[in-house]
Amino acid sequence: MWPTAELHVHIEGTLDADLIRELADRNGLPVPAGAGRGAPFRDLQDFLDVYYANLDVLRTRRDFQDLGARYLARAAAAGVRHAEIFVDPQSHTERGVPVEDVLLGLSAALADARAAHGMSGGLIVCFLRHLGPDAAMATLEAVLPHRSLLLAVGLDSSEVGFPPSLFRDVFERAAAEGLRRVAHAGEEGGPDYVWEALDILGAERIDHGNRALEDVELVAHLRETRTPLTVCPLSNLALRTAGPDLADHPLAVMLDEGLRASVHSDDPAYFGGYLDDNVRALVAAGTVTEDQVGVLAANAVASSFLPDAGKAALLAEIRAHAERVGAAVPALALDPAAV
Ligand code: ADE
Ligand code: ZN
Repeated sequence: MWPTAELHVHIEGTLDADLIRELADRNGLPVPAGAGRGAPFRDLQDFLDVYYANLDVLRTRRDFQDLGARYLARAAAAGVRHAEIFVDPQSHTERGVPVEDVLLGLSAALADARAAHGMSGGLIVCFLRHLGPDAAMATLEAVLPHRSLLLAVGLDSSEVGFPPSLFRDVFERAAAEGLRRVAHAGEEGGPDYVWEALDILGAERIDHGNRALEDVELVAHLRETRTPLTVCPLSNLALRTAGPDLADHPLAVMLDEGLRASVHSDDPAYFGGYLDDNVRALVAAGTVTEDQVGVLAANAVASSFLPDAGKAALLAEIRAHAERVGAAVPALALDPAAV
């Protein structure tokens, strides 16, 4: 298993049918109708409707700690050494769950994973685009008392019709607080959404970014600026934003174009697999070679918000793994200065 970093997983998207039933039972609630529903979905919105409805069973700090712990144990088994985890506080505060229970429960799971699995990680608070910019600003204000628990802010949920430019002020405020910035763009929205995420929000990573390939100038810009793209192949098949054949997934073009793309899991409980499952499927489809799996792992580490020393340590682990299995050592693991 290549050591790697998970940079694009929604913790709510790891809530699988078993845990839904367990939490429903513990909290005396009905099992939501969508429990157990998986791919395929008609589109992003069809999926999101199920994803939000299933969250009803998450009520207490302990529920969030259990959700985080289950995910982190599974991620450790996939070779994940560092996890930057998305959380959607609005999907919980709208149901009356205090934001501190969400953040403190997940942070406790991260602290336990550091002790149990030697994993590092942090939280990225995402704003739900469909609730608009004022609700996003109120969410930022609500999480700032817990600033020390947060790595970054992000932008997710329904994309088309909710362009990044709507969220300029809240991203500016987050940056002033020293938070890093990422944004979903180019999943269903066009290259203009990716440009706005970069130019208006100051996004340092683009989540998905598949449709960036439609704009040659944007591709050149992403290459020159080494902007990371966090790509989620099984998600794209499940939501019909790529495919239907994984062999045609845009990741191959991204790597050929020299873009800093890495592979992640998005909502693994719904899309048929965790980070390792995504990688295995790509290799089986012939989309990437075994040697490119090492490149993807090195790209993920280089794209993380780890401090330089943390990146260097994980790149050294990747180099050692390559040597152990006789694979090509990824260029980034040979020359951390290129990170
Ligand atoms: N929230 C959870 N999964 C998402 C995705 N794939 N795109 C946008 N928002 C999401
Ligand atoms: Zn996502």
